[in-house]
This record gives sequence, structure tokens and C-alpha cells, in this order.
Amino acid sequence: MVRKAVLPVAGLGTRFLPVTKSVPKELLPGVDTPALQLIVEECVRSGLDDVLFVSAMGKSSMEDHFDRRLDLERELEAKGKDDQLELVRRLAELAHVHSVRQGEALGLGHAVLQAAGHVGPDDSFAVLLGDDLLDPESDFLERMVAVHERTSRPVVALMEVPEEQVGLYGIATVQPGEREGEHLISGLVEKPDAADAPSNLAVIGRYVLPGSIFGVLEDLPPGRGGEIQLTDALEVMAAEEPIVGLTLDVPRFDAGDKLGYLQANVAFALRRPDLGPQLRAWLEDLLAGDDPRAGA
Ligand code: UTP
Repeated sequence: MVRKAVLPVAGLGTRFLPVTKSVPKELLPGVDTPALQLIVEECVRSGLDDVLFVSAMGKSSMEDHFDRRLDLERELEAKGKDDQLELVRRLAELAHVHSVRQGEALGLGHAVLQAAGHVGPDDSFAVLLGDDLLDPESDFLERMVAVHERTSRPVVALMEVPEEQVGLYGIATVQPGEREGEHLISGLVEKPDAADAPSNLAVIGRYVLPGSIFGVLEDLPPGRGGEIQLTDALEVMAAEEPIVGLTLDVPRFDAGDKLGYLQANVAFALRRPDLGPQLRAWLEDLLAGDDPRAGA
């Protein structure tokens, strides 16, 4: 049974400066809910109720978000704001949240290695990147866990990307897998030049991994950009026996990127009954350029 999730959230978020100088990008909201909360909710929905943040100096507000806030609770109670009180209290009971620090941002593989003591070498665990948002109702992670429990192999999420974006991701060499949507990955390369890319299938921020990956990460030299790369550890494992790629079939947003973040907010808000109809009408006016209140 996979019960543990590791959320690497120690990065500097340089693509999202200046806000990330003082606010962790993982706390930027999708409408009113921090990205990190959406991801913890995804873990819980997928049966993973033990959540470890791999965090860093200056980012402790992320843990605070999942703690009690008694002064706020008392105030909401006194004012009879029961719905908000329930929202705030529920957060502290959502999952068993733990954290470790990655003293220096030496790469995603290095961040995952900081979880070795908490997870141990014999347990499997999921990794979810704190700025990679899937559709808030998606069961994709649960399906990845099921594939891992069936195959015992590392499972990664694969997404088709246009040629001009292959240099931004880890790219997989694949053959068809056992079932619809599954691929067998025999090789991986981190951020290749488009001309050298083995496919257009990119690894995105969801992984289900065996604890044996910690031993591989420990021995790994720095890779692309001088960082310890999770992709390189997976490449070592794939060279022994193919790992499994599950094709992403739900909407996904790179919320660590300004455009991806804006798209996530518009998409999430449009489907909310309290905001969607008004936002849609406003956007239509804005794009038509015929309502001065729309600011176009
Ligand atoms: P990113 O590649 O988005 O890195 O990492 P970043 O440093 O946060 O952002 P930019 O590129 O400078 O804007 C993907 C995820 O891995 C975590 C990040 O916090 C993010 O959630 N990460 C990355 C770590 O925890 N430690 C690292 O050393 C690197």
C-alpha cells in the first residue's frame, strides 16, 4: 500500500519573481486555495494521508497553513461564520503533515533524497511537485498508484509537448505498454535539445516510486545544470528494467510559470458556480473590447 507522499517545495521560484522573494510560489492561490493545499487534497483523495514537505528557509508559512489557528477560529466562532470556521479547521485535519529541510536547492533528486529517513528503503511513495497542478477533481494519481501496485515498477506521468518545449522537461524513450495509455520507458534524458530528443513525451510532476530509488540517488553525480536530477535516477532504474509511463489525460497547469498560473486561475474560476458565470461574461466583454468597465 502506498500511503506516503513527498512534496518537494524548496525551490527558489525564480521564474515567478518578484512575488517569490517573500511568498513561496506553492502558496499562490488557484482562485482562493493555495496550490499546495490543492496538491495535499489530491494526495488525500488518492489514499496518501502521510505528507512530507521538503521545504527550505523562509517557507515555513507552508506548514502553518496546515496547522490550527486558534485566534482566527475563535473570531469566526464568535461571529457565527460557521462555513469559514469549518474551512479553517478542516485544514489541520486533512493529512498527517511533516517536513524536512533541503538546506540548499541542489536539484529535485537531492530534494527527494531528503525524504529517505521518513519513507525508508522498503516503502513505495508518491512525489508531487508543488507547482504542478492537475484538475482539482482528477483521479490521475490514484490510477498511477494502482499501476505501481500492479507492476512494482516506478511510474511517471507523461505528457505530449510541442517540439519547442522538449528542452524544458525530462523526455522519455518509450515502447507501448501492457494497457491503454501505458508506455514502457527504457531511457530518459533531462532537458534535451529538440534535435536529440527521443520523443515528445515529457515527464511531469507526478511520480510513484519504490524506496530503492534513495540508494540510486545517493550514488548519483550532479547532472544537467550541476543539479542532482530525479530524471537521472529514473534513467538508471529504466536501464535495468523499463519503468512505466502513464499518459496524462486530465488538464494540467505549470503554476510555477506566469502564463500557466494565469490559465489555471481562469480555468478553475470558470467552473465555480459562485464566480464562473460572472467571470465568463466579463471575459467575453473584455475580449470583444466593448465594455469600458472590463478594462480592455
Ligand atoms: P522547479 O524546476 O520549478 O524549480 O522545481 P524552482 O527553483 O522552484 O523554480 P524556478 O525554475 O527557479 O522558477 C520543481 C519543483 O521542485 C522543487 C521546487 O520547489 C518545485 O516545486 N525543487 C526544485 C526543490 O524542492 N528543490 C530543488 O533543489 C529544486
